[in-house]
Amino acid sequence: MRIVVLDESKAGEPRVAVTPDTIKKLVGLGASVTVQTGAGRLSSFPDEDFAGAGATIASSAAALKSALGEADILLGVSRPDPAKLKGIRKGALALASMDPYNNADKIQPLADLGVSTFAMELMPRITRAQVMDVLSSQANLAGYRAVIDAAAAYGRAFPMMMTAAGTVPAAKVFIMGVGVAGLQAIATARRLGAIVTATDVRPATKEQVESLGAKFLAVEDEEFKQAQTAGGYAKEMSREYQAKQAELTASHIAKQDIVITTALIPGRPAPKLISDAMIASMKPGSVIVDLAVERGGNTTQSKMGELVTTANGVLILGYGNLAMRLPQTASSLYAKNLVAFLDTMIDKKDKKLAVNWDDELVKATLLTRDGALVHPMFQLKA
Ligand code: NAI
Repeated sequence: MRIVVLDESKAGEPRVAVTPDTIKKLVGLGASVTVQTGAGRLSSFPDEDFAGAGATIASSAAALKSALGEADILLGVSRPDPAKLKGIRKGALALASMDPYNNADKIQPLADLGVSTFAMELMPRITRAQVMDVLSSQANLAGYRAVIDAAAAYGRAFPMMMTAAGTVPAAKVFIMGVGVAGLQAIATARRLGAIVTATDVRPATKEQVESLGAKFLAVEDEEFKQAQTAGGYAKEMSREYQAKQAELTASHIAKQDIVITTALIPGRPAPKLISDAMIASMKPGSVIVDLAVERGGNTTQSKMGELVTTANGVLILGYGNLAMRLPQTASSLYAKNLVAFLDTMIDKKDKKLAVNWDDELVKATLLTRDGALVHPMFQLKA
């Protein structure tokens, strides 16, 4: 089993798909691992650490080309650029976050190369696959980092402080969307001493919010009771529900110092939860962190990759994938997710790749095989 890992840092991806720890594990499983030089630079994993763990470092274009030509498996963080995979062995497996929704045109070139691609973000959320769940491992870090970034941008303190010079009030933090990121944001804001409230459309979140010591706020009508899909995700809510939700949250948002939005619906644009009027009602110096900015944003004024200062002095942080701002931790968890999935495809006795194409995890994540887009997501679109 020959594994190749590319340097994704030049494409703006600071994370890397292996760490010294996972290289040791892969070598133990019978694999040889070739890592492109510099792949771990932005995650603080120097080439020497990879080499020390048993990897070969491909320092030249020729060495990389030859590794790709013999590769059985390509491990990546983001969807690989087909131009960088020219000459890859037909039939090689590629595991990465492929961002598959509405991107058939970008995935077809990978199929054309003869690569079997797996989208890690389509991993079913079942107990067996928890250890392979890249959405959770990265969203958890994003939730944490959102609070840290908010605290850094906020011109006041988070905890209540009683000092000789006077009392500093605790910051009021509102979390909108209580999935994996939202729960970690609640926990982090509470640890920093903020007064935390949270909202979501899935009823299951109420108890989770309260168990973290925060207050739950939501329109709890019949639609709310049905808002969770069998897969555990939120449904897109009706216009009527959204109007009621906006009415409930509007007066609350006006009193908040920090709002962190994480609301997403799989395969759909992010719901707009914060309007221009709500932003205008907030105090100068208040901070919004929009974790949904890559999918269109939960506010009307978020801009991807930017810190927006609104006319009334509200700061809106739209940095995008916040796990990238903790590249070493994010890489460590992501690389473990990858190895856990790969582990299910390896025959331990023969130390050989033995993919069970009927396995539910394989079926759920496999996008391309034998030159074709094979995932049901693409069949429906055809
Ligand atoms: P996500 O990233 O898709 O969405 C974030 C949150 O936004 C969700 O909680 C969603 O309900 C909420 N949301 C959507 N529309 C909203 C609106 N209009 N207003 C307010 N909130 C809105 O969700 P994530 O973090 O991926 O979690 C989805 C579910 O999967 C959760 O139930 C989570 O507990 C579950 N899960 C299960 C795992 C397992 O069993 N292995 C692992 C990880 C998560």
